[in-house]
Amino acid sequence: MSNPLPLLIANLKANLTWEEISTWIAQIGPKSQNFKGTVVLCPSFPFLAQAHWQIKSSSFNIKLGSQDISKFQTGAYTGEVAAAQVKEYCQFCIVGHSERKKYFSEADSDVAEKLSRLLEAEITPILCISDQNQLQTYLSSTSHLKEKSREIIFVYEPPGAISGGGDYKPESPQSANENAAKFQDLVGEKLTVIYGGSVNPENAKTFFAQGNIYGALIGQASLDPKSFSEILETAN
Ligand code: PGA
Repeated sequence: MSNPLPLLIANLKANLTWEEISTWIAQIGPKSQNFKGTVVLCPSFPFLAQAHWQIKSSSFNIKLGSQDISKFQTGAYTGEVAAAQVKEYCQFCIVGHSERKKYFSEADSDVAEKLSRLLEAEITPILCISDQNQLQTYLSSTSHLKEKSREIIFVYEPPGAISGGGDYKPESPQSANENAAKFQDLVGEKLTVIYGGSVNPENAKTFFAQGNIYGALIGQASLDPKSFSEILETAN
């Protein structure tokens, strides 16, 4: 993959207005220029185009990702956003996030379809996986997952470790590292695995110190540019 590591992916979820996102870009942008890795900002759909133009008119080293994508190609699917429609603005897309499963009944088969649409559009999927069983399910149901594994960013993200989740169970960096290694074994290829779940400026260093973890998917701590930039400095 041509994206320098580590990968710091800001998953804003359904947060921030355009004004706040624009400020985020203006504040993180200058720091991104000295960052050896890759910063990926994932705002809500309506802001992708504006964010794209703001970044394009600067020399900031920020890439964009969408937080989800339709399992369909373009067509008569009211309310959906197809991969071909975001391709102009995004190089990445989060897929299979546990919140999509929890609140929108997304099935593993939907995730497999979305993955195919992204790979067809040459958008890098950021594939969230809760545990080894789920990875095994994807491997058995998605024939090209193994074959395309070098084009995918795998996120080990135990749903219980996501901040704001009801039955909160923090994940230790050591356990995250072991799980990332097991992902490699299951797929049998060299993967880019990152970790997601309550990464913050205080604990980021311990996750980045693990040999099998190449970055983080950051939710809550990405909302405030100050805490995101502290994580960025740690990762550098
Ligand atoms: P969190 O979210 O950092 O707020 O735990 C991560 C995610 O859900 O992507």
